Amino acid sequence: MNPLVQAVLARYGADPHSLVQIFRELQQLQGWLPRDNLCQLAAALGLTLAQVEGVAGFYRFFHTHPVGAYRLLFSDNITDRMLGSEALMKDLCRRLGVAPGQLGDDGLVSVDKTSCTGLCDQGPALLINYRWVVTRLDAERVARLAELIRARVPVAQWPAQWFEVQDSVRRADVLLAAPATPGVALAAALARGPTAMLADIKRSRLRGRGGAGFATGLKWELCRQAPGVEHVVVCNADEGEPGTFKDRVLLSRHADAVLEGMTIAAQVIGARRGLLYLRGEYRYLLESLLAVLQRRRDDHLLGESILGHAGFDFDIAIHVGAGAYVCGEESALIESLEGKRGTPRIRPPFPVQQGYLGNPTIVNNVETFCAVGAIAFYGGAWWAAIGTTESTGTKIHSVSGDCERPGLYEYPYGTRIDAILQDCGARDTQAVQVGGPSGMCLSDSEFDRRIAFEDVPTAGAFMVFDSSRDMFEVARSFAHFFAHESCGFCTPCRVGTELVARRLDKLAAGHGSGDDLVVLIELDRLLHSASHCGLGASACNPLRDTILKFRPAYQQRIKSPHFEPAFDLDAELSIARRMTGRDDADAHFENES
Ligand SMILES: Cc1cc2nc3c(=O)[nH]c(=O)nc-3n(C[C@H](O)[C@H](O)[C@H](O)COP(=O)(O)O)c2cc1C
Ligand code: SF4
Repeated sequence: MNPLVQAVLARYGADPHSLVQIFRELQQLQGWLPRDNLCQLAAALGLTLAQVEGVAGFYRFFHTHPVGAYRLLFSDNITDRMLGSEALMKDLCRRLGVAPGQLGDDGLVSVDKTSCTGLCDQGPALLINYRWVVTRLDAERVARLAELIRARVPVAQWPAQWFEVQDSVRRADVLLAAPATPGVALAAALARGPTAMLADIKRSRLRGRGGAGFATGLKWELCRQAPGVEHVVVCNADEGEPGTFKDRVLLSRHADAVLEGMTIAAQVIGARRGLLYLRGEYRYLLESLLAVLQRRRDDHLLGESILGHAGFDFDIAIHVGAGAYVCGEESALIESLEGKRGTPRIRPPFPVQQGYLGNPTIVNNVETFCAVGAIAFYGGAWWAAIGTTESTGTKIHSVSGDCERPGLYEYPYGTRIDAILQDCGARDTQAVQVGGPSGMCLSDSEFDRRIAFEDVPTAGAFMVFDSSRDMFEVARSFAHFFAHESCGFCTPCRVGTELVARRLDKLAAGHGSGDDLVVLIELDRLLHSASHCGLGASACNPLRDTILKFRPAYQQRIKSPHFEPAFDLDAELSIARRMTGRDDADAHFENES
């Protein structure tokens, strides 16, 4: 057996549930995953070759063919494009003599695009060998970068300032303000005991920050009551929704608060095991997170008899993802944690009943766990007094796009859109995409609306578009994102997202007709009603919103703009809107817990 394969297998105890991590480490050592490695892994893990290849083929960051010593991936969110990423990529390809997506003849370098890397406040961004990120790319950096690659200088020796990732916190409230001393919130929770702590979480009326807004107290109670050998706490740090980067900052500045929230959750539901699912794009945070974990073990905040409480044993492991947006969906995330393809599960059973390895499992967002620590320290009533009746506490927004001061803004729920626009220095704004592509696109007539589950719900992205932007192109970019990220499990989403993207390409090429709009609306209905998970169900949200609110951007691409569809388009859109239930918080996350 290849000694590298042997060594990595040994590190993971030849556990087939670690297959994704085994792949990641092997690829880091060799650059790609040769077929003979896959055969050896299959034999050693007791899996079939088809199973092993199926997993390797699912994740975009794994390669079963050589990809070059330097693998460069440009972040391809609309905000990166607005900052000029496409021209920079073209320039880099020209300088290196490679075609986008192709490996050069000498096998040295490949240049391609990847979905949003969560650096929209400091783009355009580049991911290198799944290990380093370069922020604030410009023509000068690209020219120098090409020289370094041609001279085969190892990435670790490139200018250190290129890799600087800033935590631009612009407005801090209770969560982003100076963090509490590690252990203080946990001590408060332990003093209260698990039953009283759960009651306090319920009193706070905290709702999940990952998008669905499910009541955290209820989720924990259901899990606590579910029979099972071992209960599990999972932190969802996949943060794949384009335009979202708040979890990145929380993990880099407030890692203790996140891990402390997970530990309090463990105390409440009776868990010994915690797993943090870190998106592959945030691999560069791994070492610092591991250091925080170790420090917490040394300080008796993790491990056995936490803070001297006999019988309270809990520890956390980090699992790094490999470039699949769908793995943010909680059941797909659990599949990935189990070393499988990230295909969303059929529910019931829900994760709180049967989650990780069949055990009762809670999955919560990074920000939700931060809020838990604050509630443990200050109390549920204190949290419930912030925000609105249905949406208590604060919400952190990742602000990017056409504004002077991109970065993180934390506000109490109930804050108006125009207040955020004013604070971030946005001018001449025509639209804001709140909650990422699967959220809502608001036009200027709606800027008096408020961030709240009962009005404008959000998982955290706030992308600003001024009047110079073409909202058709924004919707087209998001359509391509969904087509690219569809996991392919169910036909409506696999085929439907592709058809939507192609129709929009047809309109962009000037070959569109009014019929195309009709077909697009039909596809929206189909995708929403027949998709297996929230990805497909919300894939047409930007399309529907922009057709409704920015119709001229579509009409100018239609060959006969005076075309009258055979039915009332606005009436159809309003039916589609009702069917998709956009009023009831978030169609994206229907099958919650
Ligand atoms: C396609 C898709 C992607 C998702 N991505 C994320 C994500 O990156 N982070 C997250 O916390 N929740 C994400 N979710 C929501 C999770 O399924 C789940 O609702 C959430 O992690 C629960 O945590 P919370 O209750 O604290 O919000 C996603 C859902 C879908 C359908
Ligand atoms: S809706 Fe899309 S992402 Fe979800 S299971 Fe179906 S194909 Fe996969």
